[in-house]
Amino acid sequence: MEKKPIILGIESSCDETAAAVIKENEEDKVEILSNIVSSQIDIHKEFGGVVPELAARSHIEKIDLITKKAIDESGVSLKKIDAIAVTAGPGLIVCLSVGLNFGKSLAASMNKPFIAINHLEGHALSPKLNSKLNFPYLLLLISGGHSQFLSIEGLGKYKRLGTTIDDALGEAFDKTAKLLGIEFPGGPKIEEYAKKGNSKKFDLPKPIINRGGCNLSFAGLKTAVLKITKEIKTKQEKYDLAASFQKTIEDILFEKTKIAFKEFKKITKNKNNIFVIAGGVASNKNIRNCLTNLSKSENFETIFPPANLCTDNAAMIAMVGLEKYKLGKFDNLDFKPNPRWALDENAKFLKGAGVKF
Ligand code: KG4
Ligand code: ZN
Repeated sequence: MEKKPIILGIESSCDETAAAVIKENEEDKVEILSNIVSSQIDIHKEFGGVVPELAARSHIEKIDLITKKAIDESGVSLKKIDAIAVTAGPGLIVCLSVGLNFGKSLAASMNKPFIAINHLEGHALSPKLNSKLNFPYLLLLISGGHSQFLSIEGLGKYKRLGTTIDDALGEAFDKTAKLLGIEFPGGPKIEEYAKKGNSKKFDLPKPIINRGGCNLSFAGLKTAVLKITKEIKTKQEKYDLAASFQKTIEDILFEKTKIAFKEFKKITKNKNNIFVIAGGVASNKNIRNCLTNLSKSENFETIFPPANLCTDNAAMIAMVGLEKYKLGKFDNLDFKPNPRWALDENAKFLKGAGVKF
């Protein structure tokens, strides 16, 4: 019987040091044998955001231990691993270099194939870790570093339909939280505050809501929130602001997802109406409910990967590694970290003040 591939994944693109081992079983299903994630939240919270040098130092301290733990927990010996898949971008270059150098050295010393992985491709294929999902599908990736609508058409075939032209959505949540005096990362706390607040209390802007297709913009919200925080005094007003902020985000995503559905249907000719929502912000229940209801009314099936596979992890990196391994797509050991590695290389760069719709 043909041996089924076993892949080691390594991730260090931002503030999580992670390693995982996955394999394909006899029924062609993916099994996660181990999935270790070590978060650096405690290191960065006093600074209100990720400090690249501190993040890199922590990756250096932990990468070998985390990888060893992933191998030990998997019950597979290092010798049995067929390939080593490592995040090579996008992300912070000082952080990417740590995982990449470690993974390359391991691959060289073990004489195993090395596969360089795009972190966003990991998020894009993460639902394949726990469900049999056929291409194509529409992906909304909403995390601390990225906010994009992508048509996922096959391995390596990604069409960006929309992206943020300024802040990522998680960043907008974290910045609003900071203005309300909440510790980094404040996204989950905003959700808690919002439960106690009146979402109609403050009227916040919805940047580019009527233009720019399904591209997104959140920077204007931060400015509006800043202005309001200067005037509010009570805890209840803070709850109201959190609720108004969250409701505004729901409204923006609702409208933009409607446009993304239309664009996706045009591409796929209505063949596969599947909508995957991933990234840390996808754990927000109000956002989930709002987008699930929209999907129902538009005949889309909604899939949310479980929370531990939505946020940064190495199992999703190993998942892309597995797909590439099966096609014999390996990389050379001189592969360089690529901090700005886009998934759709044909998509226009849409960031900064010069962007006009
Ligand atoms: O995907 P992720 O874990 O890491 C990145 O790749 O960035 O996403 C982290 C982001 C943070 O900005 C965090 O505040 C946000 O996801 N987040 C949330 C919630 N849980 C995490 N935002 C809103 N509501 C939540 N419940
Ligand atoms: Zn990520």
